[in-house]
Amino acid sequence: MSTAEKTFSKGLEGVVAAQTEMSFINGTEGILEYVGIAIGDLASQSSFEETVFLLWNKRLPTASELEAFTKDLRSHYTLCDEMITQIKSCPKDAEPMHVIRSMISMLAMYDTDPNANSVEAARQKSMRILAVTPAIVAVFDRYRRGLEIVPADPSLSFAANFLYMLNGEKPTEAMTRAFDICMITHADHGLNNSTFAARVVISTLSDVYSAITAAVGSLRGPLHGGANEGVMKMLNQIPTVDDAEAFVMNMIKNKERIMGFGHRVYKAKDPRASELMTLAKQLAEDTGNMDFYNKSNAIEKVMEREYAAKGIYPNVDFYSATTYHCIGLKLDLFTPMFVLARIAGWSGHVIEQLEDNRLFRPTTDYVGPHDVAYVSIDNR
Ligand code: CMC
Repeated sequence: MSTAEKTFSKGLEGVVAAQTEMSFINGTEGILEYVGIAIGDLASQSSFEETVFLLWNKRLPTASELEAFTKDLRSHYTLCDEMITQIKSCPKDAEPMHVIRSMISMLAMYDTDPNANSVEAARQKSMRILAVTPAIVAVFDRYRRGLEIVPADPSLSFAANFLYMLNGEKPTEAMTRAFDICMITHADHGLNNSTFAARVVISTLSDVYSAITAAVGSLRGPLHGGANEGVMKMLNQIPTVDDAEAFVMNMIKNKERIMGFGHRVYKAKDPRASELMTLAKQLAEDTGNMDFYNKSNAIEKVMEREYAAKGIYPNVDFYSATTYHCIGLKLDLFTPMFVLARIAGWSGHVIEQLEDNRLFRPTTDYVGPHDVAYVSIDNR
């Protein structure tokens, strides 16, 4: 490509850098589909396990295929003793996202063939990472709280098993379903920053663990998956629903970003936000947390009035904050929940990249000086 043909797009906006068969996004109309199926239909009718099968195989499973897939996933729920020891060597006040990023990286050292990069090997590693990461989160959280580790229960679904390992008691069906819907809605989302990071890393033919580790590091940023914690911090700072409008208007006046709003692709309401809004309302009613829901709703109304013309609407992180709070999760576990789900998408993209790989290597537009004389250190 000649220099004249090269274009610079800050933040790579509008650049098509990969092809995928997994998720389709229409940002103007607020549409999200996984393999052609509307996210709302999956949230209301599918399970996380079935959604992962869909993303990785580009079709819905038959009953026996889903059974085999689920059995395989459950057979990898348990974390080995060495990994538990590694988690217990982390400082108790470490941020869970730092622990997760480090421990996913460490999983490579307990894999007898960590660098195997055939598509089949990548699928198997993805299955293991997806299945065992909930245990990493639960083991660390219980260890820092001084509680006994709760072993995984392979008779439980992905969602129920995580809540069981975290809380030490079997979750209700309603909580399990709510968590399952969170996992479905967060599973994949085009070439978002963390997915791009995963694809960039695997494109060097590095390894699946490195790719997923890089993705976790990307996701934790406040402009990406870290925004759900930012939303909760904001909700905690607003004393009552009546204070919401003044609080947000003050943030706008100070040119602060309102977490949970805006998106590079959506210029309409993120369809995941609509799904999670319904879920958050139901859970808030059931758990006596309507103040959080009402504050969120009040913020959305102010933002609609002030920012809708600019195409800034609630994104997935806005109502997921209230949802996770109602499920009983601590604030610093919100972004880790995004990780649990998005491993499905990251892995699917890693597999797609390996199926038709070409090294990612964009170029820079050099804007510095030329022909500068070298001055020896004594003369500077
Ligand atoms: N609050 C106030 N103003 C905003 C916001 C917001 N949340 N988002 C964008 N803007 C303004 C921004 O100040 C800028 O204004 P101006 O043109 O006057 O300078 C304009 O909108 C464009 O912003 P941008 O940063 O160039 O747009 P982007 O496409 O790079 O930003 C974003 C996308 C998600 C980083 C941004 O909307 C944002 O910072 N949102 C808050 C953080 C957040 O909720 N992130 C989660 C994203 S969705 C889940 C995920 O994928 O992780």
